[in-house]
Amino acid sequence: MPSIDVCFSPELLRLYDLKGKAVVAVDILRATSTMVTAFAHGAADIYPVMQLDECLAFSEKGCLTAAERDGIKAEGFDLGNSPFSYMVPELKGRTIAITTTNGTRAIRLSEAAEEIVIGAFLNLETVAQHLQELGLDVIVVCAGWKGMFNLEDTLYAGALTERLQEQFTFENDATLAALHLYQTAKADLVTYLQQSSHVRRLQRLGIQRDIEFCLQHDVFEVLPVWKKDKLVDLKANPTLV
Ligand code: MLT
Repeated sequence: MPSIDVCFSPELLRLYDLKGKAVVAVDILRATSTMVTAFAHGAADIYPVMQLDECLAFSEKGCLTAAERDGIKAEGFDLGNSPFSYMVPELKGRTIAITTTNGTRAIRLSEAAEEIVIGAFLNLETVAQHLQELGLDVIVVCAGWKGMFNLEDTLYAGALTERLQEQFTFENDATLAALHLYQTAKADLVTYLQQSSHVRRLQRLGIQRDIEFCLQHDVFEVLPVWKKDKLVDLKANPTLV
C-alpha cells in the first residue's frame, strides 16, 4: 500500500527522499490555487521560476509574465498572483511564466521527484483520483511562508490525506497532525483561518475575496503536472500522461 507523507516547508526537503515518489506541491494562498485557475481558464502551459529577472525574460518569447512578492504584484509584470486575474478569455492558449514568494520555490525544489502534481483545494478530488491511479508514495510539499510553517497548506495536506486514507498508509506525525487539523477545521475553513498569518497579511493588503475563493473544494477538474521544464494540464493533454 503506498504511503502519504507531509513536508511542512521546502526548507525541510533535505530530510525527505523524493526519488520514485509523487510530490504534490501546494500553496493555497495563492500560487497553486492561481495556477489551477489559470489552467481551468485555458492557459496552455506555465513556467514556474524562482527569480524575477528570469521570469521577466519570458516576455521576449511572447509569454505572459506574472510575479508576486510578499503578497503584492511585482512592478513590470503582466499579472500578479490573484486567481481572479486569470479568469479572462485572453488567457486561452497562452503560456505564462510565474514567480511567487513561496509557491514556485516549493515546485522547483521538488524536481528530484518522479512526478510533481500541483495541488489546491480547487482541484482536490482530481489530484486524489490521479494519485490513486498512479500508486506511488506521495509527499505533500507545503510552500509555507518564507520557510516557515503555515496553516492553510497543512490543512490541504490533511484534506488530501482524508481523501486517500482508504488507499494510502502513513507513519509520520506530520501526516497525522495535518489530518487531525483538517478534521477540526473543515466545517468552516474561512473562519478557522481568520487568525492565520497569511490571511491577516492578505487582509491588510485589502485582499479578502481571494481567501474565500482559494478555500473552495473541487471547483476545477484540472491536473497540472511538471513535464521537463514546465507545468501542463494532463486533463487537457491526456496524451502527455
Ligand atoms: C506564495 O507564494 O506564498 C503566495 O503565492 C503569496 C501570495 O500570493 O500572497
